[in-house]
Amino acid sequence: MTLLSDQAYRRIDRELAKFPAEQRISATMAALAIAQEEKGWLSTETIEDVAKYLGVPPIAVQEVATFYNMFDTKPVGTFKISVCTNLPCALRDGEKAGDYLKKKLGIGYGETTADGRFSLVEGECMGACGDAPVLIVNNRRMCVQMSDERLEALLGELNTTAGDAS
Ligand code: FES
Repeated sequence: MTLLSDQAYRRIDRELAKFPAEQRISATMAALAIAQEEKGWLSTETIEDVAKYLGVPPIAVQEVATFYNMFDTKPVGTFKISVCTNLPCALRDGEKAGDYLKKKLGIGYGETTADGRFSLVEGECMGACGDAPVLIVNNRRMCVQMSDERLEALLGELNTTAGDAS
């Protein structure tokens, strides 16, 4: 039994084609990203399925999935908001932005709202330190200079969006 759609496996095939046949492990990150996009998060079963498809040891894929914070090995909300909490951002209202979101959403870092809509996590430097506070929605949509007003507008937008607006 396979866990992903045919379309997802075809996308992984395209990633595999970028590497020599004996380097299938090099497609691990791309394959995990495709799997997560489809399943919402990476369960042990999904990780094992990806490993089997790539033909590499499950532990190698598990290590990648747990090392990079863009991968979720636990269920997350429809919108995962990762707030950069590294020092340059922290010195420029990053903490304030995090506190604002915590208060508005009623959750702390590492938590998901009861309706399953939002998860809040601490993120690592996203390379936009000059535009702090910085956050990223669903690992793809970067938002910079997140003042209270901009945070409010973002939440308003996401609240009226049915699915993945990233
Ligand atoms: Fe936040 Fe670099 S420290 S983007």
